[in-house]
Amino acid sequence: MSVYFEATLARKSTVVTRDPKGYDDRVSTPEPGWPLRRIVVLPLVLFAVVSASVFALAKLHLAKPAGVAGPVTLGDPQRGQVIFGEKCAGCHGTKAEGGIGPALAGAHITVDAAKAQIDNGGGTMPAGLVTGRREDDVLAYLATIFAK
Ligand code: HEC
Repeated sequence: MSVYFEATLARKSTVVTRDPKGYDDRVSTPEPGWPLRRIVVLPLVLFAVVSASVFALAKLHLAKPAGVAGPVTLGDPQRGQVIFGEKCAGCHGTKAEGGIGPALAGAHITVDAAKAQIDNGGGTMPAGLVTGRREDDVLAYLATIFAK
């Protein structure tokens, strides 16, 4: 008999000398108290806690879109046209005739809707390309090209 085989036999015998049912016994020992506690009560409590926090977060509405309402003040349309050429013409065309973005010249869009689009972005258009005075100027320019 080889040395290796004997060593294997020896190892096996040490395994067998342990109580082979020790592990099973511990698991199958019935819990004190109501036996369904673990499979019924705990999931119910978890469900209640998780749905309560989801509902609370939804109610809190942490991520409100910025600047939805608010009166639109119009600035200087000529300055606005220049800013439009820098910031918007790449997508909407130099004469706002359309390109990647839709045509704005002659479009039936209100100034309010345009302001909301500039503030919040949409589709591939990034939010907040122009703000403050510059936004007022761009809106004044847009007001001159939108359909009346
Ligand atoms: C990266 C390209 C890109 C740039 C830059 C861009 N836009 Fe847009 N714009 C778009 C796209 C695309 C849409 C359509 C969005 C959608 O479908 O929701 C759009 C939509 C709009 C709309 C709404 C059009 C409609 O029919 O309702 C307005 C108004 C507008 N853009 C104004 C501007 C102004 C003003 C600027 C410059 C400050 C600008 N955009 C810059 C791509 C752009």
